[in-house]
Formats: sequence, C-alpha cells, structure tokens
Amino acid sequence: MIQTIRGFRDILPEDIAIWQAIEKTASKLFEDFGFKEIRIPIMEKTELFARSIGETTDIVEKEMYTFPDRKGDKLTLRPEATASVVRAYIQHNMGASDSVQKLYTIGPMFRRERPQKGRYRQFYQINAEVFGIESPYIDAQLILILNELFKRLGLSELKAHINSLGCKECRPTFQKELLGFLEGKKEHLCENCLRRMDKNPLRTLDCKVAECREALKDAPSTLNHLCDNCKEHFETVKSVLTEQNVEFTVDKTLVRGLDYYSRTTFEILTTALGAQSAVAGGGRYDALIKELGGPETYGIGFAIGFDRLAEIVAQMINAKDVEVKDGSAAISEGNTDRLSQSNTSSDFMNLLSPKVPDIFIIPLGEKAIRLAYMWTSALNIAGIRTETDYSGRSLKSLMKRADKINASNVLIAGDKEIEDNALVLRNMKTKEQFFITTDNPVEQIETLLNRV
Ligand code: HAM
Repeated sequence: MIQTIRGFRDILPEDIAIWQAIEKTASKLFEDFGFKEIRIPIMEKTELFARSIGETTDIVEKEMYTFPDRKGDKLTLRPEATASVVRAYIQHNMGASDSVQKLYTIGPMFRRERPQKGRYRQFYQINAEVFGIESPYIDAQLILILNELFKRLGLSELKAHINSLGCKECRPTFQKELLGFLEGKKEHLCENCLRRMDKNPLRTLDCKVAECREALKDAPSTLNHLCDNCKEHFETVKSVLTEQNVEFTVDKTLVRGLDYYSRTTFEILTTALGAQSAVAGGGRYDALIKELGGPETYGIGFAIGFDRLAEIVAQMINAKDVEVKDGSAAISEGNTDRLSQSNTSSDFMNLLSPKVPDIFIIPLGEKAIRLAYMWTSALNIAGIRTETDYSGRSLKSLMKRADKINASNVLIAGDKEIEDNALVLRNMKTKEQFFITTDNPVEQIETLLNRV
C-alpha cells in the first residue's frame, strides 16, 4: 500500500474542526486590524529564497526542496512565505496604491527537517506582513495581534520573547566585537559555527550544539550595541507593550534562523509540545525589499506554526474533557461551563461546535428512496444539513445510523407515510414528533426548525 512521504501527513476530518476554527478566528482578527489576504504560489525560483533567507542559513543550506524543472530552471517549494509576499509586493508595485500594505496569507510550507512532534516537512503557517511603516507602534501591534489571537483561542499562557538586532548603522560594530569574541572561543565551536564566523557571525548565537551554547553564553549582545535610533525604537516597542498589558521577555539570544531581520525580532515559545519550540516568530526586515529589487520600504511580519498551534489547542480542549467527534470538537455537556470560564472566546467555541446533520431522512422502499434523494438535495440547497441513505436497509438499522451520525432529527418516509401524505419528523433529543406533508417538505421543515 502506498503511504505518505516521511514528514508529510493527512489532516483528517476529525481534526479539521480545530483547523477551521483557528483559521476563521485568525482571518477575522486580521481583517479587523486592516489586513487583506494574499495568495502566493507554492513554488518560486530558488534564487528568491537563497537571496532573502540567506545562503548560510539552515533552511537554504540543507532544508529546501529544490529541483530542476523540465527545462532546467531551478525551482524550490516555498520554505516560508515572506520572500514570496515581498516578491509579490514588488512585482505588482503594491506600494503605489497606498504606501502602507498589510497582508496575510495562510498555507503550506516545505522544509526538509528531521520530523518529530510539531515538526513536519510539509507544515502550515499563518503569515502576516506589513509594508511601509517604520514606527515601532507596528512592531508592538503585531505582537499585540499574536497575543490577542492566542487569548481568543484560550492560550493565555503563551508569552512573547523579544530582541533587537540593530540596523545597518550599528550591526557592523557589533559584528566586529562578536568576531573578536568568537576568535577567542574557536576551539569550542562546532564546524558549522566556524564556517559561519566569516560569512554570518550572528548565526553562531543561535547554534543548538551544547558546547557552542556554553562557549557563547557570555557573548556580546546586540542590545549593548544599538545605535541611538535603534535603542529608541526598541524602547518604544517595550513601553507600548507594557502599556497594553502584553507580557514579554527581552531575550538577547533571539537572533532567528533567517538572515533578513533587522531591529525588532520576536518569538512565542512553548513547552506544550515537549522540548521548547516556537509557535510563532517574526520581526523587521527593513532592507529586504530593496535587496530584492524593490523600492526602499520598511517591512515587518510574523508567521505562526499552524500545526503547532492546532496541536496546542487540541491539547487544551482535551484537557478540558471536550470530546472530539464526527469531524468536530463536540463540547460535552457539563464541560461547557469550564471551557467558557477559561479565556476561550465564545466565538471560537461556537466555531468548534459540532456540525451534525439537522435531518436524516429514512426512506423505506424504492419509491421513498427517490423522493428522499429529491428532498435531501432541496434541503441541502436551502442550507439545512440533511443526509439520507440509499441502501434500502430497515427502519431499525437506519435509526442506528441516525444515532451514529448524531442527527438532530429524523424524517421517516416509508411507502405508507408517503401514501398517507404524513411523513414523521422526530426530534431525536426530545422525541417530539411532527407530521409533514409531501408537497412542500422544505418549507414545512424550515418553519419547524425556525429557519425562516
Ligand atoms: P520561522 O521562525 O522560520 O519564521 O517560522 C515560523 C513558525 O513556523 C515557527 O515558529 C514554527 O512554529 C513554524 N515552523 C517552522 N518550521 C516548521 C516545521 N518544520 N514544522 C512545523 N512548524 C514549523 C518564518 O518562516 C518567517 N517567514 C516569519 C516572518 C514573517 N518573519 C517576518 N515575516
């Protein structure tokens, strides 16, 4: 049997309710903050990622899915969205209509990493990018948006880590000092760090090798080398977050795994998936747009790891004894109160509520099956979730199926009921029964279900 490729996976119907609820919550939040959706291709010229993410990053050095197409062009499955959104911004001269552009995009990314819990080779990101704003208020606002999204999903324990990497004015002085420090630690550094020292010394601060970490724990920090403008910028970010009660930790080791960042960088870290990992990350990239051939424009954004977020939300819901059933997380009775007492917004809870059939039509007999098909289609078109069954099985066995799919009502349509012009609609919970004539069942059902 052919199975999925390592690191690739199916997201099954029983898990999708959480994904859809998160996606709707995020899109609504973005739109309330003035963001517009953009959809970008899944593949780009390799050069776009190599130039933006950086030749010496892990992503470009070892994780990209790159291959020649039939004509020999070098193509790459996108490992992230920022490079493509910047390319689209430049290609369509988006700055011309308004100097400020706020864009979001949600979709799959591809990195050939070692798969583990919360790490996949095809994973999904919820991505936001803002063009044309230098002000630190937008840095703070993006962190506020992340905070607000997590709050609405009931994840109030997630906190931001923030840092500033300086700009093209102050970075060179810092790099010089860092290089001096690294020279003295050479014998403790891994091969990767030694190689990166020349090209990109900042990346050594992010090395995960224990010996490097130990050797670098007293390494100089960008924060002590910021120029006055960067210092003031970062101070404003911090004071605005504080005024808006957004909790954060200043983390001088946060350099991020992509090369395009300057000034503010941030990550949201969690231990909910085992070893500490980031559920979101982002920052400023004020030089990137020009580097990719566009006008000099400020840029900042973030990406949330959708798979990780969905797993954390699922864990939270399971911990609150909510059962996931039939393609949707069904909040079992008695636990609704506990869930609503958490910070989960009621909108998000509504999005999670089960989408069970409103009606299950039970046809008994050949003639009834044809009519049941017609009524089911008409009810579906009228927006009433209706299912029926074409197997010709008995009333008893179809009542069992109605139970299994959690239908709210059944409509019993035997040849006899059709002949008597009196179909029976039964509410499965209250056991109340209503008679329905065969001439205009859709309207009668709409009235009975209060849908008109
Ligand atoms: P990133 O830190 O590489 O940033 O990725 C953002 C998030 O994507 C991570 O925090 C993580 O949650 C998730 N992620 C990354 N790799 C995987 C994986 N293999 N499996 C599951 N989840 C993963 C960026 O991609 C930047 N483009 C963010 C950005 C936007 N910066 C400015 N604008």
